[in-house]
Amino acid sequence: MKIMFIGDIVGSPGRDIWKQYAARLKSKYKPGLTIVNGENAAAGKGITKKIYHELLEAGADILTMGNHTWDKKEIFDFVSEADKMVRPANFPPGVPGEGLRYIKSGKKKVAVINLQGRTFMPPIDCPFQKADELVAAAEKETSIIFVDFHAEATSEKQALAWYLNGRVSAVIGTHTHVPTADNRILDKGTAYMSDAGMTGPHNGILGMDREVIINRFLTGLPGRFEVTDGPVQLNGIVVEIDDTTGRSTSIQRIHISEDAPFFD
Ligand SMILES: [Fe+2]
Ligand SMILES: [Fe+2]
Repeated sequence: MKIMFIGDIVGSPGRDIWKQYAARLKSKYKPGLTIVNGENAAAGKGITKKIYHELLEAGADILTMGNHTWDKKEIFDFVSEADKMVRPANFPPGVPGEGLRYIKSGKKKVAVINLQGRTFMPPIDCPFQKADELVAAAEKETSIIFVDFHAEATSEKQALAWYLNGRVSAVIGTHTHVPTADNRILDKGTAYMSDAGMTGPHNGILGMDREVIINRFLTGLPGRFEVTDGPVQLNGIVVEIDDTTGRSTSIQRIHISEDAPFFD
């Protein structure tokens, strides 16, 4: 089966390009499952119930999240019932929501896991130990296990991918909003890419107004981050997985850019 994964949707520009291309991407790649990172979907920070449904209706089967999970307070009203969403699994015990969910693709069951890194990130429980625990549980249910590792440092992302090599189908990074060119299959069949990149306006910084961020670097003063305008990109990957073994056989990048289109 194929799994399509779309990197962090940023604000309404990101949602719009996802809605615009979702059907075309599905007919081109024919994924059995489509996963979308939604941590920045609501004005760049967090997600609302309405937007959760909007991203699913456009074609996502399940959403992953990240460090911005809790930015919109209404998340607490629906995260426990949001059975098409995973938030980082290594938040401490007692935090609402789930970090591992199973989803059906035809007759196949896929485990979707979201983990968050600790290097240059807010404190959180160990993603490696949490991965051990969740993968041990998931492999009793299915051979197809997809991990969105939401982290800053490529070293931490590579470390988790090699740590899980042969135990999961894919470890795909999110959070930096910059797509990397290191998509590959590790030697025991785990597909890997340090970062899928974001889906949003790309003439800002991380999809946000660049003047505010430049000023923050110049002065150290806080600023109000807002989603910027201008041309939009959609970034993601498609992984092909052997259903029986759960090992990946290919990983390719998806890149659509409004100002330099090369999508066919
Ligand atoms: Fe993000
Ligand atoms: Fe993030």
